[in-house]
Amino acid sequence: MGYREVYEGWKADPEAFWMEQARAIDWDRAPTRAYFDQGPAGEWFADAMVNTCWNAVDRHVEAGRGDQAAIIHDSPITGTQQSVSFAELQDQTARLAGALSARGVGLGDRVIIYMPMIPEALVAMLACSRIGAIHSVVFGGFAAHELAVRIDDAQPKAILAASCGLEPGRVVEYKPLIDKAIEQAAHKPDFTVIFQRPEHAATLVEGRDVDWIAFQDDATPADCVPVAGNHPAYILYTSGTTGQPKGVVRATAGHLVALNWSMKNIYGIDAGDVFWAASDVGWVVGHSYICYAPLIAGATTIVFEGKPVGTPDAGTFWRVIQDHGVKSFFTAPTAIRAVKREDPNGALIGDYDLSSLQALFLAGERADPDTIQWAEDHLKVPVIDHWWQTETGWAIAANPLGIELLTVRKGSPTHPMPGYDVQILDEAGHPLPASTLGAIAVKLPLPPGTLPTLWNAEGRFRKSYLDHFPGYYETGDAGYVDEDGYLYIMARTDDVINVAGHRLSTGAMEEVLAGHPAVAECAVIGVADSLKGQMPLGFLCLKKGVETPDAQVVKEVVARVRDQIGPVAAFKTAVVVDRLPKTRSGKILRATMAKIADGEEFKLPATIDDPATLDEIAVALKGVGYPGKA
Ligand code: COA
Ligand code: AMP
Repeated sequence: MGYREVYEGWKADPEAFWMEQARAIDWDRAPTRAYFDQGPAGEWFADAMVNTCWNAVDRHVEAGRGDQAAIIHDSPITGTQQSVSFAELQDQTARLAGALSARGVGLGDRVIIYMPMIPEALVAMLACSRIGAIHSVVFGGFAAHELAVRIDDAQPKAILAASCGLEPGRVVEYKPLIDKAIEQAAHKPDFTVIFQRPEHAATLVEGRDVDWIAFQDDATPADCVPVAGNHPAYILYTSGTTGQPKGVVRATAGHLVALNWSMKNIYGIDAGDVFWAASDVGWVVGHSYICYAPLIAGATTIVFEGKPVGTPDAGTFWRVIQDHGVKSFFTAPTAIRAVKREDPNGALIGDYDLSSLQALFLAGERADPDTIQWAEDHLKVPVIDHWWQTETGWAIAANPLGIELLTVRKGSPTHPMPGYDVQILDEAGHPLPASTLGAIAVKLPLPPGTLPTLWNAEGRFRKSYLDHFPGYYETGDAGYVDEDGYLYIMARTDDVINVAGHRLSTGAMEEVLAGHPAVAECAVIGVADSLKGQMPLGFLCLKKGVETPDAQVVKEVVARVRDQIGPVAAFKTAVVVDRLPKTRSGKILRATMAKIADGEEFKLPATIDDPATLDEIAVALKGVGYPGKA
């Protein structure tokens, strides 16, 4: 069957389609049906009983794959490689799960995981799912304040962490960040478990912190606990328009079914193959495609601790693909742009044997046609853009290599996947004709594996995703579908920006800037960047009578964002202006400001209060090296 038959087959009978896919999962109690019309947006396989860790680990040991590598850790930063077999992974997760149970962590309890790219991060996630605890992984590049916000929202019983992360040339000590976060948070976890890495030994707080090895060494291994199909497997916080992140909930059964389907049908991966997603466990790509999906499918996953360039050079990706026989490779376009910048002719690619590689998958931000072309020319495999979000957990639109490689149109992530009825809507919610730009929405229900709600925030879930277009899920992206059904993702419709494939909230940064005593008003926009796609840029209006020099205030707000959100925000530039361009009702015209910064043509907003403010912005931007008004 080709893509068209598969998609139409799903559309004709979604219930039968998903019940068929569910057969690939080991159930403790099989679902009697797929879709349940309950909860704010529907639920999947809600009457089943199942365990994620069993499906990702134990069943493969039982099926004779115990000696196969489940995880290969490759760290060009430490110069080490390590392989963990499915049998070893089973033993490690069972012992950690047993130790957590012994300390009172059980079904539905939350556990925060703050870990770098080491196998123990996956062990921690799987150990939680083994006993029905709900994990929430926080990206290591986030600062203490962001961790504190997540601790208060998730209210974890425990934190599982490592002593440090490793950035090129820098050891990032995690314990001081964790201590500060726990101090700031109103909720206090019962205990923390620290994995001491050889690069840095953290000082443990007596009575609260325990050493990972001692903690799980003689623990009684825990069995897999069956949980209800709609039990949350995890919470993953993602950026919204405000400083309060959204806790995306992932329900267990749909997650298993959808991820398993995606491995074979989108990525062309079978049990025994090697799959590599060069992302981080702190992001959704890391949850779905470093940890869960490859393991559920019985494939080997690569945990890579390094960067596309500089660890040690722009050939690192190709070395890893060669050394471990990677079949499908997934990264962000930014990473390829970084490699291309260092090695424009792809000279280093020739140094490696890439015969195992069948395709390169790109997601996380728009894949610009130049980057795709470069990768196609030099890697000589299909380069597949696919589009999805933390909320969906797997691709909304892709080129399903495992079903049929469709003709690639550069700039388009191709077609919707089964489960997603993608529509382009006007402001009033009416479907728009082909090739017309509009809001991208998905007709409800969303497929298995997507979010059923936000953690402790059903109202926000409805408001953010369901209320604007009744009967649809609002993606927050704008774009169009061409005459042949190819989808194009053009921009966000909200104040979320995308920096090096990392989703960041300009609202969160504005909250930090506004907290500076000299700042009366501020705005943050995303401006085009040839490497990272977008970079944040701040505008500051200072309070009357402030005597601190502008440059000093800018330096201080840059330090504040790094300290309160984290280095990953990459907030490096701000300009002081007298006033911000606004509509007559007081809304800051961020999109117009971004167009001016990028030197793009723009229409004067009809509702602008004072057009002269745009000229002032253009002058200020020119002063810091931007092209200014087109
Ligand atoms: N822990 C602590 N700090 C971290 C971190 C982590 N896990 N990850 C990133 N940082 C820090 C970096 O050290 C850097 O700090 P600096 O300001 O002191 O230099 C900052 O956060 C920004 O990091 P990053 O976005 O990685 O940019 P970079 O300039 O170091 O590297 C690229 C540029 C393009 C090589 C890099 O962004 C990259 O690899 N991108 C791929 C993105 C990706 O995989 N995204 C996942 C979505 S699929
Ligand atoms: P995240 O939740 O971090 O995965 O970010 C999701 C957002 O990243 C989407 O809503 C898009 O704005 C953007 N995005 C992800 N993948 C793509 C893609 N292939 N093309 C264009 N934008 C993308």
